[in-house]
Amino acid sequence: MKKVHIKSFGCQMNVYDGQRMADILGEQGFEETPTPEGADLILLNTCHIRDRAVQKVYTELGKLRDIKTAQKAQGQDTRIVVAGCVAQAEGAEIQRRQPAVDLVVGPQAYHRLPELLEQAQRRRTVDTDLPIDDKFGHLPAPKPAAIRARGISAFVTVQEGCDKFCAFCVVPYTRGAEFSRPVAQIMAEIERLAASGVQDVTLIGQNVNAYHGEGSDGRAWGLARSMHRVAEVQGIHRIRYSTSHPNDMDDDLIAAHRDLPQVMPFLHLPVQAGSDRILSAMNRKHTADEYRRLIERVRQARPDIALSSDFIVGFPGESDADFEETIRLVDEIGFASSYSFKYSPRPGTPAADLREQVPLGVMDERLQRLQARIEHHRQAFNHAMVGRTVEVLLERAGRHPRQLAGKTPYLQAVQIETETNQIGDRVQVVIERAGSNSLFGRKAGEPDTPSQNPAMLDPAARDPANKDLAA
Ligand code: 5AD
Ligand code: SF4
Repeated sequence: MKKVHIKSFGCQMNVYDGQRMADILGEQGFEETPTPEGADLILLNTCHIRDRAVQKVYTELGKLRDIKTAQKAQGQDTRIVVAGCVAQAEGAEIQRRQPAVDLVVGPQAYHRLPELLEQAQRRRTVDTDLPIDDKFGHLPAPKPAAIRARGISAFVTVQEGCDKFCAFCVVPYTRGAEFSRPVAQIMAEIERLAASGVQDVTLIGQNVNAYHGEGSDGRAWGLARSMHRVAEVQGIHRIRYSTSHPNDMDDDLIAAHRDLPQVMPFLHLPVQAGSDRILSAMNRKHTADEYRRLIERVRQARPDIALSSDFIVGFPGESDADFEETIRLVDEIGFASSYSFKYSPRPGTPAADLREQVPLGVMDERLQRLQARIEHHRQAFNHAMVGRTVEVLLERAGRHPRQLAGKTPYLQAVQIETETNQIGDRVQVVIERAGSNSLFGRKAGEPDTPSQNPAMLDPAARDPANKDLAA
């Protein structure tokens, strides 16, 4: 069998796309291999969201060129494919900078991988069309064995692209206009996943709560209505969705958090900044107070909901006072977790032309302060779990013998110690301790005996193990 190595950078959608490319290539007789060495085909699924992500791709390509050259000397042909958002944004420029690349394929064209690979055998090929034809309709369904190998939690892309045009963001250019998959197609995919043991699905899209796919009555259905259908699928116990824009958080979606037990009490709702002046310059089209009121309504529907956000520091023109507004918002809301980034000017976006760029040193300082506040609230949220009993979906073996790892409804990683393999079970766990990246507990009803497992007793052995599980 031919071997393919797929490496995905960036967001959850790239993870999903990587799996779908593995499914397509599986039909072409490729099996996946965890390392690039020895692979016949190496595929980088790239991210263009910040400049650092792009630079990583070129560094990686340099290493892959060396592997290709070394394998050539041994008589093995290696083909290198660049897929994803850098492929879309930079196209043929990638092959100019790294001639070892055989094929550049954008995120809307990868369903044509087999024919493009064929073509790339004859000449270097670039396909970065943003076609209107439905890529999803052309993708092969994953095989039961592939689904099982990927575990009991799965991502399902339901929406792609974005029409919001935030001033800093490349997504509307790399992924194109908003597109929503029809409900029937999504249901077929989720039913297939559930039949092979998937219990936990995250519906993903660049702006997923703007979802408006064709429903069974031929009309556009919103995300909430579609989630009601997903909740009916036998075996699907947990539903999440990511990523959302505050302005698309409609009443039905908020009500779904109250009415559907399968919809988890977790919401990733990026706000980006706390200053109205900056929010306006970012073209976010909402104020900080509108965001606060929205969060209040979500909390009324589901008081225990865990919230998370993305933040950008150092957007052009951000003053100290503007930044303090971000800190104030973070302290008021008390996010369970958040991502934060230094602003990175992206070619072709409106913000890249703004003159008042914030000095790097100032950005560094602000990022550090913001991250400290985010971490403070994350720890507070996790410590508040100690002593509570929560449902944990056990997903995989822990790093140490007799440990199993799973997640709470609030997306916190949990480790329990147990003698039996209960992967796939939803168990009630008494949380006993909060580590820096995981919670630790025991199954409710099991005796609270001192642990015999040194890994559970020694904090030094414990913490590095948990890093892998951080969401
Ligand atoms: N610079 C820094 N961060 C960015 N993001 C998007 N574009 C940029 C940029 N140019 C962040 C936003 C978004 C997350 C996915 O990445 O916070 O929500
Ligand atoms: Fe980018 Fe999200 Fe804004 Fe769309 S809503 S432009 S994906 S940051």
